[in-house]
Amino acid sequence: MKRILITGGAGFIGSNFVRMVLSEHPDCLVVNLDKLTYAGNLENLAEFVDHANHKFVHGDICDETLVRKLIDEYRIDAIVNFAAESHVDRSITGPRVFIDTNVSGTLTLLEAARDKNVQCFVQVSTDEVYGSLGAEGMFTEQTPLSPNSPYSASKASADHLVRAFGHTWGLPYNITRCSNNYGPYQFPEKLIPLMINNALNDKPLPVYGDGMYVRDWLYVYDHCTAIWQVLEKAPSGEIYNIGGCNEKPNLEVIRLILSHLNKPDTLIQYVKDRPGHDRRYAIDASKIINELGWKPSVTFEQGIVKTIDWYLDNGPWLAHVVSGDYQKYYDTMYSGR
Ligand code: NAD
Ligand code: TYD
Repeated sequence: MKRILITGGAGFIGSNFVRMVLSEHPDCLVVNLDKLTYAGNLENLAEFVDHANHKFVHGDICDETLVRKLIDEYRIDAIVNFAAESHVDRSITGPRVFIDTNVSGTLTLLEAARDKNVQCFVQVSTDEVYGSLGAEGMFTEQTPLSPNSPYSASKASADHLVRAFGHTWGLPYNITRCSNNYGPYQFPEKLIPLMINNALNDKPLPVYGDGMYVRDWLYVYDHCTAIWQVLEKAPSGEIYNIGGCNEKPNLEVIRLILSHLNKPDTLIQYVKDRPGHDRRYAIDASKIINELGWKPSVTFEQGIVKTIDWYLDNGPWLAHVVSGDYQKYYDTMYSGR
């Protein structure tokens, strides 16, 4: 039996990964360590919380004693680190917690993994560590790191630490760098679920700048299968870019959402741009495709329809996550724009 410590498994991508592992790999034990910040939600795992192969632990990756105890108690042989502060806008208004969790927290996990001889450490990173592209070109695994936001700087720092633990102490590791994910259970602070939620409520859709910023969209389930392939097959020390080959300007994505929901384009509202906004991301995923045999299962056109329909079918989940502190967040982040 594979015994995996998954951190951040109650967040968007982590919960999709936990669901995939428990559904498709019955020989795995999942220990899910999550602090349940505003972005962590056990409702994301409703039908799996009490699954026999799932042990949920409410706690912080910065808690050294807890992390070491879990590795011993469950005889962990792999760690997949999803836990992070993940939103660029929040990193601009309050960067400190990004360093605490994304850098110090990763260091705590690495020290424990090294000392307890964990056989595989997978760091879930982002294409944002590479910085921003102009009109041409794509990020490869050789692109120098040049992070522009406090969020991406914290993720790049963590990537460097992971590599350094491999180099200095021989810790077996892999780093994955994916493009923007979308799909079920994404918190509506990120572009796609925020626009779906606003459109459903006939609220203005806040488009930063000219709306021609480009992101390369990856369906979350396809990201999860890619991480699984890395865990199963990748040689230690390798880095893999993961992308959906779906480059789209934000306005195109927003118009697609409006059209699928039968809402008018007049809901679009141009607002003040994000400071330091990266113009374009695009991933060259040929390494993981050619070396590990991974491929995405859906096109963007299929994935976005599945996603919008999921939000339509899961009204109570959405209503719940936007109650409470979400409204305060939205007013603070968008009132000055
Ligand atoms: P998310 O914000 O939805 O979830 C993060 C999870 O981590 C939450 O459940 C939260 O409670 C937990 N967490 C935060 N701080 C913690 C701590 N100190 N200890 C334990 N748990 C903690 O994030 P996501 O979108 O699911 O992203 C997951 C990972 O993937 C992150 O590392 C992120 O940098 C990376 N990533 C995300 C995207 C994307 O498009 N969402 C793209 C590239 C990379
Ligand atoms: P986001 O989902 O925050 O992901 P990231 O910044 O990590 O790529 O944003 C995706 C794109 O959408 C980015 O170009 C910023 C833009 N955006 C808006 O135009 N309006 C919004 O309200 C949000 C949240 C994002």
